[in-house]
Amino acid sequence: MSGLEHAVTLAEALTWARGRLDDRLEAEVLLAHVLGATRSHLYTWPEQQLSETQVEDYRRLIERRAAGEPVAYLTGRQEFWSLELEVDAATLIPRPETEHLVELALQRVAARDTVLDLGTGTGAVALAIAHERPEARVTAVDASAAALAVAHRNAARLKLDLELLEGDWYAPVRERRFHVIVSNPPYIGEAEPELSQGDCRFEPRSALVADGHGLADLRLIAAGAPMHLYPGGWLLVEHGYRQGAAVRELFRRAGFVDVASERDLAGHERVTLGRLPDPGTTP
Ligand SMILES: C[S@@+](CC[C@H](N)C(=O)[O-])C[C@H]1O[C@@H](n2cnc3c(N)ncnc32)[C@H](O)[C@@H]1O
Repeated sequence: MSGLEHAVTLAEALTWARGRLDDRLEAEVLLAHVLGATRSHLYTWPEQQLSETQVEDYRRLIERRAAGEPVAYLTGRQEFWSLELEVDAATLIPRPETEHLVELALQRVAARDTVLDLGTGTGAVALAIAHERPEARVTAVDASAAALAVAHRNAARLKLDLELLEGDWYAPVRERRFHVIVSNPPYIGEAEPELSQGDCRFEPRSALVADGHGLADLRLIAAGAPMHLYPGGWLLVEHGYRQGAAVRELFRRAGFVDVASERDLAGHERVTLGRLPDPGTTP
């Protein structure tokens, strides 16, 4: 591969990579990863020489990225809610859009509340809530032992206290109740074209795909929530941008009130929330 066979400087390596990747930022992120340095290092020391091993590592990463592998899987890191999270091929890569779910949940989580995050993956949503509400007790469930291992390491590294449980949706929490339940479950239908696009091509299908046009897991989560919420407790879920009406209907059928869908910056309904009636208070 011309230009990267001999001793090369950081500036030369970047020029070479930019010819192979459309995204200049990605070329920088991957070079900084190879060096174990920040991106600003690349501009402070453009004449620094790469070792042979670093050249080889960088060449391989650029080839994998050019073949479509997500940057987060190549670096093993993704930022979410300003927290640096470990990610791997067993976990969904946390999306910036999901920060909206966290914001809406935090508006309903009081200091010492109990919170349940269903389908936690890297722990992104649960860790963001634990970070903002240090006295809350946050429980996180996932069916994937491999994803839970990543969530465990993220919690330990960030020194945030999570209760992590393995199993199918509500099964691991048995009869327990919570003040707030939050979930970003799989919600893409089997036939959706986005499964064969972008990062989704490399992510676990069990984190993305649900039966029933993507609604099967959302249905189970809505139907099971009343047994696991205190009266007056809130359920918040992320979903696909065309699923708002169907999810509101699932919430109403499960007995929720104050059901509403919130729009993302693009104007799409992406989060639906509802409150369990509290018979002890006037509506
Ligand atoms: C869309 S990912 C969301 C991950 C994380 N909450 C986030 O927002 O980045 C859905 C997660 O649900 C988990 N999951 C899928 N089916 C499940 C089930 N039946 N019970 C519990 N978790 C499940 C997957 O393993 C995956 O981690």
